[in-house]
Amino acid sequence: MSIIQSDILILGSGVAGLSTAIKLAKALPNKKIIVATKNNKEESNTKYAQGGIAAVWDQEDSFESHIQDTLRAGDYLNDIEVVKMVVENAPIRLKELIDWGAEFDFNTQNEYDLGKEGGHSANRILHHKDITGYEIQMTLIKQVENLSNIEFLSHHFAIELITEHHFTDKTIELGQNDIHCFGAYILNEKTSEIDTYLAHKVVLATGGSGQAYATTTNPVIATGDGVGMAFRAKAIIEDMQYIQFHPTALYEPGKSPAFLISEAVRGFGAYLRNKNGERFMLKTDDRGELASRDIVSRAINMEINTSGAECVYLDCTHLEYEAFYKHFPNIVEKCKSIGIDVKKDFIPVLPAMHYMCGGITVNKKGQTSIHNLYANGEVAKTGLHGANRLASNSLLEALVFGHEIAENIIADEAVFQATFPPIPEWNSEGTIAPKEQILISHNRKSVQNIMNDLVGIVRSNERLERAIDHLNYIYSDTEKMFKHVTISPQICELRNINAVAYLIVKQSMQAKENKGAFYSLDLL
Ligand code: FAD
Ligand code: SIN
Repeated sequence: MSIIQSDILILGSGVAGLSTAIKLAKALPNKKIIVATKNNKEESNTKYAQGGIAAVWDQEDSFESHIQDTLRAGDYLNDIEVVKMVVENAPIRLKELIDWGAEFDFNTQNEYDLGKEGGHSANRILHHKDITGYEIQMTLIKQVENLSNIEFLSHHFAIELITEHHFTDKTIELGQNDIHCFGAYILNEKTSEIDTYLAHKVVLATGGSGQAYATTTNPVIATGDGVGMAFRAKAIIEDMQYIQFHPTALYEPGKSPAFLISEAVRGFGAYLRNKNGERFMLKTDDRGELASRDIVSRAINMEINTSGAECVYLDCTHLEYEAFYKHFPNIVEKCKSIGIDVKKDFIPVLPAMHYMCGGITVNKKGQTSIHNLYANGEVAKTGLHGANRLASNSLLEALVFGHEIAENIIADEAVFQATFPPIPEWNSEGTIAPKEQILISHNRKSVQNIMNDLVGIVRSNERLERAIDHLNYIYSDTEKMFKHVTISPQICELRNINAVAYLIVKQSMQAKENKGAFYSLDLL
């Protein structure tokens, strides 16, 4: 077990972690920055992003229009100042990303080809075919690898944030403003050692929590680790009831994660049809298929419940195929691989857990309620999304807040002179390898099924009470295991999924009205 000290520790290597790291490394060449990530360097939600990044780019578009669309999608629970900040800084942050090497598609007039998605009243989505996330992820990795003051550690799993809770008298109750972050305990997956990483500033950029549900578009790494760690460190976490279900995940029974059929496909003109071939969205919203995601997902849910069908369909058959293929080659090829020819077949789709609108509460500088701890990206609740995120505002939010966090850290020169209190090493005494891994994987699947069945698009008091009873049992069983088994990513992820599930259910129970992505039958 080693003690490793840096100036800044960044946990996570998606758009949030890497963009923050790049800005810091360029501005502070003499400071040592560590980026630790639990899988390989590229694995993240970012890598799978399809539709693109929203920004006002066209002369005909306006900041006011992007602001209004974001507020309407968020059911007006957004922080208006944050919405303005993100929207108005979008073009400059995107230009910076382009300077770093990211390429976005052009149209035949040699201008950026701006796509459209649900809830947007203008074409304003820059994209790289339908693999925008991959383009961004690889661009950022290249930048990071050229910066000599960043140490980029793959297969390093952050277990816990280090706060006073690890070394002060356990009987002393720390006030919400008394907690400081000094780094993190990190499991080196190659050596199986748990090392102590001390840092003056810590940025949590660990992404979303789709894996709390059985049906999700999120890859297996999206286990809400940041929320779990921050919850145990007693940070403020809000708006967890606003879980965004993407309306159109490919319906492939038994397949997890679900492959996404980008909302940009509907922006391109695709229709949603029920099992009788009828378009149904216009009954619900005059924007039809391009209403915001909460509305479209609920309408699909209703359609399925009333018809007894297993899915609905995306109809692309009327669209100009050459242009469609040029924009969505990955989606067309995926469909082809399972026998769907988008020229003549409908694509079966179903809503799936896609995005955590709430998270660790931060201010406009990305600061959490814990001193020296920042949060960026999907793990953070900035106030941008309100009760439901507007499509393609997420990658953008991470870039804008990455910049703000970097500015704030750069201005706090004094913090780098501070000395650390004595921090104990991680105590693994008395733990043994789990006899049966199945006990951990069973609990993970149980949480995912509970959340799918009882805490989905439509909730009720009865379903939530049932969910919390089941989750309480899994929580105590998992905590017992955690005390006795050798620490592994699997047991840590299970704990974090539990924490996320608990927060979603508890904050759903506390909700007073149906807003955006939260909808309870008892609040109608
Ligand atoms: P991530 O990109 O998920 O990165 C999190 C990082 O943290 C990963 O590197 C992970 O391995 C690491 N990590 C997690 N836990 C730990 C731990 N314990 N220790 C160490 N490292 C850890 N948004 C848009 O704006 N436009 C889109 O077109 C779009 N399309 C999407 C399509 C799909 C299929 C999905 C799933 C999401 C999409 N989103 C889109 C949402 C967007 O991709 C994410 O919200 C965004 O990428 C989150 O970035 P992030 O950096 O916060 O998290
Ligand atoms: C999509 O391409 O539909 C995803 C866009 C997003 O989640 O913002």
